[in-house]
Amino acid sequence: MLILGIETSCDETAVAVVEASKRRLDVRSNVIASQIELHRKTGGVVPEVAAREHVVHMIPVLEEALTVAEVAMDDVGLIAVTARPGLIASLLVGTNTAGALALLTGTPVVPVNHIEGHIYANWLDRDDDIVFPIVVLTVSGGHNELVLMRGHTDFEVLGSTRDDAAGEAFDKVARLIGLPYPGGPEISRLATTGDAAAYDLPRALRNEGYDFSFSGLKSAVARLVSREGDHLKRADLAAAFEVAVCDVLSEKVARAAVEHGAREVHLAGGVSANQRLRAMVTARVATACGTAIKVRHPEQLTYCTDNAAMIAAAGWFRWHENPKAYEEWKPVMATTRMGF
Ligand code: KG4
Ligand code: ZN
Repeated sequence: MLILGIETSCDETAVAVVEASKRRLDVRSNVIASQIELHRKTGGVVPEVAAREHVVHMIPVLEEALTVAEVAMDDVGLIAVTARPGLIASLLVGTNTAGALALLTGTPVVPVNHIEGHIYANWLDRDDDIVFPIVVLTVSGGHNELVLMRGHTDFEVLGSTRDDAAGEAFDKVARLIGLPYPGGPEISRLATTGDAAAYDLPRALRNEGYDFSFSGLKSAVARLVSREGDHLKRADLAAAFEVAVCDVLSEKVARAAVEHGAREVHLAGGVSANQRLRAMVTARVATACGTAIKVRHPEQLTYCTDNAAMIAAAGWFRWHENPKAYEEWKPVMATTRMGF
């Protein structure tokens, strides 16, 4: 079956065509119109500006996704659209597009939780079987959750952030040291030449429960930046900050994997593109649980950050579970009654 995925929850207008067969979810097209350049001017996303951009790009991106996949709308068997969480005016562009397509073609629509979408990015373009239970760390600009997945669509949130998400902390710290938006990749690049031991930064809640807190770390960086002034060693600070975030994240993931007898550990979301995070989680999980546990991250970098292929994958598993639930498209229900 061909699934059309639509994602407009933040600053990417994305449409993808994914083909579901018995063993694989194949990405046939994955088109993303990014608003990064536009939001660089303001150092972050302005919701009203983002929504207007989605309106401009929605139809061209949809047309390109169908063209690249070499399919017509009539070939599509299922539409999956991000319904929440996200910027409400941006989400409405996607859900209204899905609704219009459903009216025109009679194709069922599955509303998808964006975080669930990030989690299902790990199923895209895979040949081998994924085994449960899985401990999943979803880390991006807007969310930061540690999730226990016992089976398909069976999620238990073990912990989440009490203030900033990890990606948000990367973005804010980047801004403090004069790096452009989005800060994650910029800090990562600068950190490769830095000495993480040069600055001592706090690690809030590291050994306590599964919740996260990154605002204290951000404030510590702000104090350091103003104290050091022209003497600030930016690469060292970038490295120290990156290690502080990855230390807390990897420690909690490994602890949760042991406690819940996980057979796999997955990383998902924009920050899962971070090489240091991948390395530290792999090392800690191997020490805590042995090397039999598989640590996975999405197959491609574009599946880590916001995209519509992951939404198509999540929609497919939801639909598979109970196809009858999606015979009628209820956009209001979709944006108000979802978990996470
Ligand atoms: O998943 P995503 O595209 O959007 C949200 O759903 O929020 O994640 C974007 C976030 C941004 O905060 C960005 O700075 C961060 O992911 N990010 C990274 C890296 N690449 C993207 N953070 C750390 N290291 C990276 N390599
Ligand atoms: Zn996201």
